[in-house]
Amino acid sequence: MANQLAIHGGTPVRTAAFPSWPIFGQREEECLLAALRSGAWGKVQGREVQQFERRFADYHEARHGLGVVNGTVALRIALMASGIGAGDEVIVPPYTFVATASAVLEANATPVFADLDLTTSNIGPAAIEAVITPRTKAIIPVHLGGLPCDMDGIMALAARHNLTVIEDACHAHGAEYKGRRVGAIGHLGCFSFQSSKNLNCGEGGIIVTNDDELATRCWSIHNCGRVTGGKWYEHHRLGGNYRLGEFQGAVLNAQWERFEEQAETRERNGKYLDEQLSGIPGVYPQVRTADCTRHGYHLFSLRVDPGVLGFSREKFIEALAAEGIPALAGYPIPLYREPVFLNRAFGPYTGCLAARPDLDYSRTQCPQCEILSTQQGVWLEQRLLLAGREDMDDIVRAIRKVCQCRELAAR
Ligand SMILES: Cc1ncc(COP(=O)(O)O)c(C=O)c1O
Repeated sequence: MANQLAIHGGTPVRTAAFPSWPIFGQREEECLLAALRSGAWGKVQGREVQQFERRFADYHEARHGLGVVNGTVALRIALMASGIGAGDEVIVPPYTFVATASAVLEANATPVFADLDLTTSNIGPAAIEAVITPRTKAIIPVHLGGLPCDMDGIMALAARHNLTVIEDACHAHGAEYKGRRVGAIGHLGCFSFQSSKNLNCGEGGIIVTNDDELATRCWSIHNCGRVTGGKWYEHHRLGGNYRLGEFQGAVLNAQWERFEEQAETRERNGKYLDEQLSGIPGVYPQVRTADCTRHGYHLFSLRVDPGVLGFSREKFIEALAAEGIPALAGYPIPLYREPVFLNRAFGPYTGCLAARPDLDYSRTQCPQCEILSTQQGVWLEQRLLLAGREDMDDIVRAIRKVCQCRELAAR
């Protein structure tokens, strides 16, 4: 029977694989070999990272781009450069990779969680304002899956409270908010080039900004506290060696040549999926707000409502996988429920505990995030969106098939 689920012995919607990731070829080999043969393997001597920084910053409408070893470090440096430290609070979302909040701890400050909007998975001005205190110094909005946050609202709120805004754009390469690329809309923006990201070199990151003073401080921190024009053995502030290497730079320059076309393909397929899936009862794609003029689509994010479907998200994912469509359960618990927060296992970074001895993340409650994390969130990886229109139709057919199955609800 065509309608019988593959998980119950029926024929799967598809057996063909989706594109794998990363995509690479001769160009990457050429660039890597050129970097190798140049003998200039470090950022200080080479030209690969420098070229990439310029390209990436220009594309994201930023005056400065600073290649660093990963996105986590990018956030840490951005916080340090902003003067965030002991006693300060930084507002972060609870539905994000751990680094958004751990970087705050590593800056010796306190992460404070604002609840998200269930329809977009992003934090917005109202939820952020609700947790502002006299200690708040910064906000780190995450463009979840590549959907830009309400940056006008967030920037206006930040201006009223004198807060620094550091965009966590690790999911949002090339995403646009009202026609403007994200990253340098805030005071600073951080991107990751870790293996799964839409632009990747294995491990890497970049900080972008239009603020010359912040750029100077970030440069110094990522280069052992040196200053431009200073001597090699002259260290003016606490920093580290956080410089991105030339081999990574070479891979990024090669991947860059593929990026725009891939971003357009993801955008086209993501929009199509969004249209096709809207209207299936119990299935809610992440709402593309009117301000989103291009989605980054690191993830195609959707919610499934077990109350409507009659079965759990986990059953949905299992049944979908059997139909040939791999999906993930997103971030399965709110970040504040990770042991590192519950046990206050912050190692040497005691700044937040000194300022708030009563700090107890078991009291943090973000009800919208609880729903998304534990019951409803589902992701399709960006590589699926690099396939063709017929492959998107398979995704839609499989989701319809699973959602319409009464048997699944009964078991
Ligand atoms: C939202 C978010 N922030 C920060 C990071 C940290 O980036 P990285 O893995 O390059 O350190 C990641 C990526 O893993 C991420 O997804």
